[in-house]
Amino acid sequence: MGRLEGKTAVITGAASGIGEGIATRFVAEGARVVVADIDGSRGEEVASRLGGRFVRCDVAIEGDIAAAVRAAVDTYGRLDVCVANAGFGGVTGPITDLDEEGFDRTVAVLLKGVAFAMKHACASMQATGGGSVISTSSVAGLMGGMGPHVYSACKAAVIGLTRSVALEQGPFNIRVNCINPGGIATPIFAKGLGVDSDPVAAEEVLALVAAGVSAGTPLGRIGTPADIAAAAVWLASEDSSYVTGQTIVVDGGLTSTKRLAEFPTTTEETTA
Ligand SMILES: NC(=O)c1ccc[n+]([C@@H]2O[C@H](COP(=O)([O-])OP(=O)(O)OC[C@H]3O[C@@H](n4cnc5c(N)ncnc54)[C@H](O)[C@@H]3O)[C@@H](O)[C@H]2O)c1
Repeated sequence: MGRLEGKTAVITGAASGIGEGIATRFVAEGARVVVADIDGSRGEEVASRLGGRFVRCDVAIEGDIAAAVRAAVDTYGRLDVCVANAGFGGVTGPITDLDEEGFDRTVAVLLKGVAFAMKHACASMQATGGGSVISTSSVAGLMGGMGPHVYSACKAAVIGLTRSVALEQGPFNIRVNCINPGGIATPIFAKGLGVDSDPVAAEEVLALVAAGVSAGTPLGRIGTPADIAAAAVWLASEDSSYVTGQTIVVDGGLTSTKRLAEFPTTTEETTA
């Protein structure tokens, strides 16, 4: 018996990376999934591999999110879990070069997309007695230097939104939490540099990111979508029935520690 037997989930950004990992694990645990993504070809592929339903959805458009939630209810009869996960690196560069259009699109995907997923998921769940809403924030929402400026601001905003909505939705038996991944091996980095369609360059980018993350992380490796999916299954299941408004950091210890360069570790080193 899977931990999500009988549950229905909508997962945005499920055509790739973390979202795909969450959808795959949810189905292995007995859930039925709606894969909601802006990428039609990969989204169809993932949904058909998992025996789920694909809905083309740009999370920056409220009507698209509403349609994804409706698809879950129309196809499977109800919605129990919503994972607001779709994302990208967004606008980059120094603050002095900030581009207005890039700012608006970044906020529309990373913040508006999560807020409207919460709106439509909660409305549906209120009608059926409750559920679990999970969003993907980031370690970039907890500290500086982990991502571009606007990306980091949006990820911090998702934490605030999660806490605020959790307070309101508790009486409806709807739990609202976010997961803050550390460095996770997905195509997001290659996409940010515009090289995701070149497999060799994409592999090189990922190797560089993996080396950097491994060196700065107590557990000494980059994370995987499966690491995040394990936390998402817990938050989606009844095992976390008394958990709401929380930020679950899954980062190999990255944000809990800082190794100081040249810091002495023995008395011999101190006196040398
Ligand atoms: N990979 C990491 O190290 C990391 C760390 C912290 C947080 N995150 C967050 O995890 C989430 C997933 O990222 P990932 O690493 O799996 O990247 P990814 O590029 O592999 O997957 C992102 C998915 O979101 C989809 N998407 C992008 N914009 C969309 C839109 N407007 N509407 C609908 N779908 C859209 C993409 O098509 C893709 O399928 C993002 O929110 C990201 O910010 C990633």
